[in-house]
Amino acid sequence: MSTHKILSALLVALILAGGCANSDDFKEAIVLGGQEVQPEVLNLGHDTYIAYCRACHGVNGDGKGPASKGLRPPPRDFRQGVFKFANVETGYLPRDEDLQRIVRHGLGGTAMLPWDISDDRLDAVIQYIKTFSELWVDEFEEVGEEIVAGTDPFGAARRDEAVEMGKKLYHALAQCNSCHPSYISYQEIYDAGVEMTGSGNTDLGPHSYAVELKDSDYDSKLLPPDFTFHLVRSGESTEAIFLAIASGIGGTAMPTWKGSLPDDQIWAMAYYVRSLIEIRDTSEALALKQRLRNQPAWVAPADTDGGR
Ligand code: HEC
Ligand code: HEC
Repeated sequence: MSTHKILSALLVALILAGGCANSDDFKEAIVLGGQEVQPEVLNLGHDTYIAYCRACHGVNGDGKGPASKGLRPPPRDFRQGVFKFANVETGYLPRDEDLQRIVRHGLGGTAMLPWDISDDRLDAVIQYIKTFSELWVDEFEEVGEEIVAGTDPFGAARRDEAVEMGKKLYHALAQCNSCHPSYISYQEIYDAGVEMTGSGNTDLGPHSYAVELKDSDYDSKLLPPDFTFHLVRSGESTEAIFLAIASGIGGTAMPTWKGSLPDDQIWAMAYYVRSLIEIRDTSEALALKQRLRNQPAWVAPADTDGGR
């Protein structure tokens, strides 16, 4: 080989090494989240990651790739091992199926688009991103059990009933409006409380319709979405919304509801949230906002113990 050829071969090797997360190719199987993953899978995952994911998620998985600047929300930092949209109880690691769904379908309203890659590459890249976090490798936290939606107890025929029930649960029993906005009048919020819990909320005012940024385990504070305005991330079907509510959003203030409320109540709230999504960005949503903003100041009833 001429000196020139040797030099250019060296240069290519250097460039390749510079673009790799682990400059050594994987030579041995690794146990990730309790599963043994073969080196050829990890090497395919690495190549796939560099080609499709690195620009945002970064060569080291830290979420700081060259295309990440200014992205809101920012790309996930895979070193943390914390995920938002897995259908498992918050605090557990996601299942491979969760990560596959997220990568295949993307996350609405974010820079995370749906990826149309082969099944082999999909599986491989998911195994590879686990190598960034000690939670999968050394510290090995448990992978969560799948939270399933089961059969919709309402169905299209009982949609209106579900929406009505969901509206009351949302504003009273579950108090989703302690983070997300309220969408009914002060008096209606109060009445829903009396009906659902025996006592109505009396701390009502313009703040009942506003949203505040919430602390999270991620680098940034997060805004609980206003469903008549923001896009939801993990799907807009009633079932996808059920799963988001039932599972909660990992690493955020939004808890797992499965188990603390019966499934039919979670379904009812999914129908209600879906009904809000249906009027997103319409004149109907605007009129609702205006009506709520212009309602007269509210005076709590003297007897707040539920006596009516
Ligand atoms: C154009 C930028 C961009 C690219 C390229 C990209 N992502 Fe993302 N990704 C994001 C953003 C932004 C988020 C954060 C969304 C959020 O927090 O709601 C994200 C989040 C994720 C999550 C976390 C989901 C959760 O539940 O917390 C996974 C997993 C993921 N991406 C995998 C991938 C994989 C695998 C690839 C390559 C095939 C990829 N991403 C390519 C921008 C990108
Ligand atoms: C303690 C605060 C808090 C409470 C209480 C709360 N949420 Fe959330 N919720 C959040 C935050 C924060 C996010 C946004 C996470 C993000 O940035 O992706 C969110 C996101 C969501 C999403 C969007 C999921 C997606 O795919 O994008 C839905 C749907 C939702 N919440 C429904 C509810 C319902 C219904 C309730 C009541 C049962 C509720 N939330 C209670 C904080 C909360």
